[in-house]
Amino acid sequence: RSSLPQTPELPDTLEEARAAAMACRRCALCEAATQTVWGEGNPGAALMIVGEQPGDHEDLAGRPFTGPAGQLLRGMMESAGIDPAQIWLTNAVKHFKFAPRGKRRLHQNPDAGEIRHCRWWLGLELGLIRPRVTLALGASAAFALTDSDAPLGPRRGRVETGLHGGPVLVSWHPARLLRLTDRGLRDQAQRELAADLATALAMGN
Ligand code: URA
Repeated sequence: RSSLPQTPELPDTLEEARAAAMACRRCALCEAATQTVWGEGNPGAALMIVGEQPGDHEDLAGRPFTGPAGQLLRGMMESAGIDPAQIWLTNAVKHFKFAPRGKRRLHQNPDAGEIRHCRWWLGLELGLIRPRVTLALGASAAFALTDSDAPLGPRRGRVETGLHGGPVLVSWHPARLLRLTDRGLRDQAQRELAADLATALAMGN
């Protein structure tokens, strides 16, 4: 009898993948987070939108993009004519990473190792859904999808080839819009994200 560890069988469906992800222990982030936040939407989606990781709100709600950045994104999706029920909305990292500060939990960016560990799940989502186009929101999503950590500025609005072989359109994360205090810069970033949402929708059609 072999003493080698068994390789887990690959889930055949998104539901099986979701159930397996709920028990994920691939990195340490599961220890402090409330729950795995899996993607949601249409399993036959032509467009997949990938964010960074659940925030405080999403960690408690168990759904992606339900907090302040999510509300901004969902409003912009509506303006662009993107129905959340028709696309797949997910994150590069499925657990919330934070530093406790009293009663607050301060968001921390996932590191390259955490993103690589969680990429196993993102790869499953891509393989099962097979979207025509993927929109990467922010540096962590762009890194998860392409393995490039080159600065986002020159990449934004361009289409790159993802590790899965499909097109990845790179854009700003909506949280960047919330952080920018300069009105002009914020308006410009918002126009750019709106343009990228429209491009992603057209590429998926
Ligand atoms: N930011 C993300 O990247 N994803 C979420 O689900 C929420 C905030």
